[in-house]
Amino acid sequence: GDSAFAEIEQALADHLVLFIRDQDLDPKGQVAFAERFGPLMQYRYVEPMPGHPMISELLTEPGDVYNFGGTWHSDTPQLERPPKYTMLYAVECPPVGGDTSYANQYMAWDTLSDDMRRMLDSVQVVHSAALSFAGHYGSEEVQGKSTMQSAYAADLDIETAHPVGRTHPVTGRKALYVCDAYAAHFVGMSQEESLPLLRYLWAHSIQPDFTCRFHWRPGTLAVWDNRSCMHYAHNDYPGQRRLMHRVIIEGERPY
Ligand code: SIN
Repeated sequence: GDSAFAEIEQALADHLVLFIRDQDLDPKGQVAFAERFGPLMQYRYVEPMPGHPMISELLTEPGDVYNFGGTWHSDTPQLERPPKYTMLYAVECPPVGGDTSYANQYMAWDTLSDDMRRMLDSVQVVHSAALSFAGHYGSEEVQGKSTMQSAYAADLDIETAHPVGRTHPVTGRKALYVCDAYAAHFVGMSQEESLPLLRYLWAHSIQPDFTCRFHWRPGTLAVWDNRSCMHYAHNDYPGQRRLMHRVIIEGERPY
C-alpha cells in the first residue's frame, strides 16, 4: 500500500540501504516492486536476463576468479543520469562469504576539513566507463576467469563530469561522489595532477567507521541509494556459486 511504501522510501533516505529478509520474488515480482520507486533503467554493460530486459543476472560460478562489483563504487556514475537506487535480490548464496559492504558518503563528505570541502565545492570529476568496463572486465587478465561477460560497446564508451560533492535531492545533504572504479581525473586537470588527491579521497571514503557489511541469504532483497553510498561485493567464496538479480531505477543528473 501507499503508506507502507512511503515508509520504505523514507527509511531509504534515512538509512541509505535497506535489507528485507525472506522475500519470495520471481523476476516479474521484483520488477513490479522496483517500479514503485520510479521508472527502471536498462543496464547495458551486461546482457539482460533472457525474457526480462530490466534484470541483470549477477552470477559467480565456482571456477571464477573475478566477481562482478568487486571494487568500491556507486553504480554507473559515467552516465549523465546515473541510477538513483539499485535493487538486488539474492537467489543463490554461498554458505560463507559473498557479503556486500556499503560506505556512507555523507559521512565521508562531512568528515573532510572545512577548507577541503570549500575547495572541492567547485570541482568536478570525470567518470569514465573505459576504466571499469573496458579496463577491467574487458582486460585479458579477466577473460575466461569471470562468468560475467562485458557487453561493452562503442556507444557505451561514456565519460561524464559530475560534482565531487553531490547534493541529495531528498535530504539536501552533500555526499562525496568519487570512486576508484570510475573517477579518471578532475575537470581541467591531467590524470597525473588529479591522482594524489583522488587517492586521498578514495582512502578517506571507505574508512571502516563509515561502512556496514551485510550477509545475504537466499530470498533477501536490498535496496540502496547510489547518491549517498558506495558498495563493494566481497569476492571471498572460491568454489561456490552466487546468483543475484539486479534492477536499477532512474536517477537525476547529479548537482
Ligand atoms: C553490484 O556491484 O551492483 C553488485 C553487488 C553485489 O553483487 O553484491
